[in-house]
Amino acid sequence: MDRELIDCIDAGTEYCPCHLAEAGECILCSQLHGKCFCDCLNWKGVCIYQEFNNNGKVAKKGRETFRCKVKEVEHLEGDVLLIRFIAPHKLALDLVHPGSYVFIRTDENFYFDVPISIMESDIESDIVSIMIEIRGIKTKKLLDIKVDDEMVIRGPYWNGVFGLKSVNELKDNKALIIARGIGMAPSIPVIRKLSNNKNTLKIVIDKSPYKDVYVNEYLKQYTEGYEEINTIDKGKLTDEIKKLIEDEIANGVTLIHVAGADILSFKVIEFLNSINKRDIKVSCCNNAKMCCGEGVCGSCTARFQGHRVKRLCKVQTDPRNIFEGRRFI
Ligand code: SF4
Ligand code: FES
Repeated sequence: MDRELIDCIDAGTEYCPCHLAEAGECILCSQLHGKCFCDCLNWKGVCIYQEFNNNGKVAKKGRETFRCKVKEVEHLEGDVLLIRFIAPHKLALDLVHPGSYVFIRTDENFYFDVPISIMESDIESDIVSIMIEIRGIKTKKLLDIKVDDEMVIRGPYWNGVFGLKSVNELKDNKALIIARGIGMAPSIPVIRKLSNNKNTLKIVIDKSPYKDVYVNEYLKQYTEGYEEINTIDKGKLTDEIKKLIEDEIANGVTLIHVAGADILSFKVIEFLNSINKRDIKVSCCNNAKMCCGEGVCGSCTARFQGHRVKRLCKVQTDPRNIFEGRRFI
């Protein structure tokens, strides 16, 4: 039986141990999960149990909020907004990694904070770019943001992508990136990481439901071009994308990154299984609905076989472990 490899995105960082350790619910440390022996799943260079004891058996200080000046606001089309803001240097450094996101405060009531993925964090100018799809009550408030306003940002958070281990470890290899809709934006840090690791990239963009590809400026830093393909039709992968996936695997691709809605990630994994390519690594967007981002509120939780509950704001794992064996009731 395969053992599921799970990780905690915050393990070993300045935010670990967190409130889950205080409650005996740590994702990694068996002793901070009610056991009396050490069964460390993922060594991150520090002992979480010892850190917890050294910290007086309380959680470390959580994420801070920052007031960041808005440098640029661009209304790309009806409900898509591009915002560039100036972040403190340390925050800009922390937001460079694939999967980084922040919460934007849109109201005095912090329950209304909106999680938004980072499209680019420029560590020389400290300018952070985000692309936002205006959809609900919380994001609608962002339409009022103007240049020189101050935005309140909470962060950094990092679990915006599942399968980060596969992305970070791929070197001198070949990867296929499939980005659809607003998924174009969070695919940029993944593309940057893969490109910096000297991988050859094939990039497919499905701009639907938008009129244009709004990440050209960012893409051209890392790749010479991309192909525009309709990836999904009536809830099914199109024949075009299926053929492209098969051709790219035959061409040596070993990792597929899917940046789009869950249905796209699920269908790609299902297709890989159907053609017996379970060995192809997959990474994808984490589309769980985040509220606290700290593993406490429960809004991001999903249930799996064996009555297991995963807090998707904290748990870092292979996308197959997220989409297979999930219970929807
Ligand atoms: S859940 Fe994660 S961040 Fe919290 S104590 Fe455990 S390893 Fe550290
Ligand atoms: S977002 Fe609150 S527990 Fe995950």
